Amino acid sequence: MKFFIDTANLDQIREAQALGILDGVTTNPSLMAKEGIKGKDAILKHYIDICNIVDGPVSAEVISTEFEGMIAEADVLASLHDNIVVKIPMTKDGIKAIRYLSDKGIRTNCTLVFSAGQAILAAKAGATYVSPFIGRIDDSSVDGLDLIDQIVSIYQIHGFETKVLAASIRNTLHIVKCAELGADVVTSPLASILGLLYHPLTDIGLAKFIEDSKKMGL
Ligand code: E4P
Repeated sequence: MKFFIDTANLDQIREAQALGILDGVTTNPSLMAKEGIKGKDAILKHYIDICNIVDGPVSAEVISTEFEGMIAEADVLASLHDNIVVKIPMTKDGIKAIRYLSDKGIRTNCTLVFSAGQAILAAKAGATYVSPFIGRIDDSSVDGLDLIDQIVSIYQIHGFETKVLAASIRNTLHIVKCAELGADVVTSPLASILGLLYHPLTDIGLAKFIEDSKKMGL
């Protein structure tokens, strides 16, 4: 399973990269706005900065909602760096854009996916990745992990090549469960990635080893 970080914060991306476990990055307009980036040039530069930190897929989202605007934006984004994957929302125009871009050899990430039916359409259109939003489904009192299970199973049965990219991750359990369910990629905030490090017995065990090592005059 690939590990992506879900942020546009360069320090957090560097911190995850330094761990040596990072395979890629996902961003969205909300995450970009959170970094205080303003203006088209600054946005494009920021994507290049991210690509220069991580040698893996970097999802950059279009803002347009109509087909023509989406593909025009996609051309600009894809030309920024080989690592860019164009993120397209799950809409009628979005599906058309994914088909068009896929036929042109431009990689896409179909975002805002909340049902298996949407995931089937994304795969049929040739999306490179499909992003089901687990946490936001959980927020509506429905288990988002069931959707990951369903999509992984449907894609396996029908041999779809689209990768299941579990998004809207809120905790370490989401990451572990996605691994169990066979998600191809999990994109998580830095806190959830770092949360995987923690176990109280590790801390207790390490304290004891350090204490005992002192008995050997080390
Ligand atoms: C990833 O591609 C999504 O943009 C992101 O995971 C959404 O997460 P959120 O529901 O925490 O905003």
